[in-house]
Amino acid sequence: MTLLDFRAGAASAASAKSLTGPAKSLTGPARTIPDADPDRPAVRLDAVSRRFGTGPTAVLALDRVSLGIAPGEFTCIVGASGCGKSTLLNLVAGLDAPSGGTLSTYDSRVALMFQEAALMPWLTVGENVELPLLLAGTGRGARQRRAAELLGAVRLDGCADKRPHELSGGMRQRVSLARALAQDADVLLMDEPFGALDAMTRDVLHDELERVWRETGVTVLFVTHNVREAVRLGDRIVLLSSRPGRVVAGFQVPVARPRRIDSAEVAELAATVTDALREEVRRHGR
Ligand SMILES: Nc1ncnc2c1ncn2[C@@H]1O[C@H](COP(=O)(O)OP(=O)(O)O)[C@@H](O)[C@H]1O
Ligand SMILES: [Mg+2]
Repeated sequence: MTLLDFRAGAASAASAKSLTGPAKSLTGPARTIPDADPDRPAVRLDAVSRRFGTGPTAVLALDRVSLGIAPGEFTCIVGASGCGKSTLLNLVAGLDAPSGGTLSTYDSRVALMFQEAALMPWLTVGENVELPLLLAGTGRGARQRRAAELLGAVRLDGCADKRPHELSGGMRQRVSLARALAQDADVLLMDEPFGALDAMTRDVLHDELERVWRETGVTVLFVTHNVREAVRLGDRIVLLSSRPGRVVAGFQVPVARPRRIDSAEVAELAATVTDALREEVRRHGR
C-alpha cells in the first residue's frame, strides 16, 4: 500500500482540495518562476547523492543534486536513460533514502505516478480511485462522491463501474491520475507517466494534466526523457547529466499556455535543450 500513500494520516475528504474552483486564465503570460524561494519551497534537495552497493562495484546514481521547487511549480526533469531520474523521484517520495546530502518535502503529502497505471484489476475504476480514501478511513458515501468528482476531473464520467481491463491505456493512466489526486497530495511525482502511450493520446493527457494542475495548484515534478514533452508541460526544465546524475542546466520555459507540442516555440526551445542533452551524452560517451 506504500505505492498509494507514503505519509501517515492521508487525505480526508474534508480537507480535499476543490477540483472545481475557478481556473486561472489560460491565456495569461507564461509562468516563469525562477528557482524556488529558499524560505518556502515545496521540495528542497541539497547536495543529494545516492550510491547503490559498496566497494568497486558500487554505482553512483546521483551526485550532489541541489534543487528547490516552489509550491505550485511544474518542474520537468530531463535526462538520458539510466541517469538517475527514477532514483531522484523515489528519494522525494520517501521510498528510498539519500546516501548523502539533505532532502525535505516540508510535510507535504506526496503521491507517485508511474508509466504503468498499476491499478488493482479486481476492483472497479471507482474503487481504485477510492482506495486511498478507504485507507485514510473516509466513509463510503464521501468516498464515492469524491471518486466521482475526480473521475469527472479526468474526463472519465460514467466509467466508475468498469474494470481496468475494459479501458484503453490512456484511460487507465487517467484513472491512475485520479487515484493520485485522491491522496490530496501537495506534490505529484510523475515518472514518465505517458511514455507508453501513442502520440495522440499523450497530447490529450498533456492537456488534461495541465488543466488539473492549474485547477488544483498541485506542485508537479515530472520526469521524462522526451524533451518536447518537457517543454510542452514545464514551467522549468532541469537537465540531468548521464550517470552519475548531476544538475547540468536549468531552463525556464517562457512559452505562453496553453501550448501545443508541435508549435514552433516549443520546437525551438526543445532543440536548445536537446543540443545541451546531446552534448552531455557525447561528453560521457553514452
Ligand atoms: N536498486 C538499485 N540497485 C543498484 N543499482 C540501481 C538501483 N536503482 C537504480 N540503479 C542504477 O542507478 C542508475 C540510475 O537508475 P534510474 O534512476 O532508474 O535511471 P533513469 O530513471 O534515469 O533511467 C542506473 O545505472 C541503475 O542501474
Ligand atoms: Mg526511470
